[in-house]
Amino acid sequence: MYTHILSTNDFTSRQEIEVMVKAGQSMVKHALARTYSTKFPDKKAVLAFFEPSTRTHKSHKQAALNLGMRIDEFSGAEGTSLMKHESLADTARMIAGQGADILVLRATQEGSARWVAEVIEQYGHQVTVINGGDGRNQHPTQTLLDLLTILEKKGRLDDLHIGLVGDLANGRTAVSLIQALKHFDNIRVTLVAPKGAEMLPQYKAGINIVCESESMEALRDCDVIYVTRFQLERITDPILRQSVQGKYVFNKKFLDSCQPDVIVMHPLPSVEEIAADIKHDPRMVAFEQAEYGIPARMAVFVRALLDPFQGLGQWSPDRDLLSESREFPIAADMKPVKFFQPINHGTVIDHIPSGEAINVIRILESISCITDELPRQLVQHVHTRKYEGQKDVLLLPDIMLDPISAATVQYIFPEITVNEFPGNNIKVKRTYKVPSHVEGIFRCPNDSCITNREPEAISRFRIINRSMTHSSARCIYCERDFTHYQLLMCLAA
Ligand code: NCD
Repeated sequence: MYTHILSTNDFTSRQEIEVMVKAGQSMVKHALARTYSTKFPDKKAVLAFFEPSTRTHKSHKQAALNLGMRIDEFSGAEGTSLMKHESLADTARMIAGQGADILVLRATQEGSARWVAEVIEQYGHQVTVINGGDGRNQHPTQTLLDLLTILEKKGRLDDLHIGLVGDLANGRTAVSLIQALKHFDNIRVTLVAPKGAEMLPQYKAGINIVCESESMEALRDCDVIYVTRFQLERITDPILRQSVQGKYVFNKKFLDSCQPDVIVMHPLPSVEEIAADIKHDPRMVAFEQAEYGIPARMAVFVRALLDPFQGLGQWSPDRDLLSESREFPIAADMKPVKFFQPINHGTVIDHIPSGEAINVIRILESISCITDELPRQLVQHVHTRKYEGQKDVLLLPDIMLDPISAATVQYIFPEITVNEFPGNNIKVKRTYKVPSHVEGIFRCPNDSCITNREPEAISRFRIINRSMTHSSARCIYCERDFTHYQLLMCLAA
């Protein structure tokens, strides 16, 4: 695993998470007493908070101070050249170039932390990047302190019924937490959110969801109720904005009707979700939870400073994408062709769904494997038994597709066949495997993904699955899943 802490989705095992949570637990006694004896006076933490923050910023700062580190910090983008439209990548290069061992980043665009980690590595610096919140996407160290709180208060991380409530569409803390909870045993989750603020289905995969409801009543059986604020800064729909005001307020009366040993957590800030009559109630642990931010982050810093740096590394494109290749002599196979001239040398992409040949051309143009100067023949709406009677055919004289380009087209249109005519009167029929990634071809459909803001960023989607009927590809930056139709709508110009 990388040294960077970018997403709870990167955590691959329960053990990996537990090691970090337990390291945080061992720091609890040192956090306020400031008694941790190992100091790092030569190490520097840069706290770059380009969005408002109280707890996350100050607890990272206190963690760094407790470890005797040097600190540099930004509170908001105001006063930086980001206001003059400098890119985040250039800002990150400067931070790294001026010397940093750890960079804690909070930024508006989803995927910012991963993008910055990549840029700094390519610039040749070893800086551990910690995601302090990137838009709606992730807040992994919040999850570590949330788990630390659960462990301290409940004594376990398994066998729990956890209620997540509030803005499950726009808040990052609940989304980060649920993805980490997948690794623990017998976790049941109840989701409570109003219509329009429900959690995206992709985050629910692999977790036992007991119930989804709009009503707080569904939370009565929970061991832990994790409340979140409506993220008004990210809700644009005026009707939803209005309807969520005062929607979920937790007070003593409600808590008295829940499990006797329930705890109420909240990442804070709370606006109106925690009534005055439970601010000091022992069941309402949000302020202690916030205090656990210091030991949790001390543990994260120590890990980053003592373990050998392990970067994201270079991205290596797929090899061996060819799945099948069969040769036919042309004379025996070639039927008379009514609609187009057969070619002796080049490629024919056949069985393209009717009307889609133009998209195949656009995909190939974005990979730069064909340009508009090169001849091509596009035959649309040819009669076929497949696709309700019609298909498109694309002839590319003198062009041989490389495997990545061909596999990418086949990923979008699995039904196609790629016929190569290398000369010598033979035809080679090829089929390709689903590529592991698709890079630089489609703009990320999520407008607030960092790849849509940074001029240097190249979109990259990891293919999660692809069959004739079902597809999903995950943007490696904003971590959102999209179908191939959604990607096709976003072919880069
Ligand atoms: C949260 C955040 O910024 O995601 N706060 C935090 O970091 N403790 C939650 C919020 O802003 O609602």
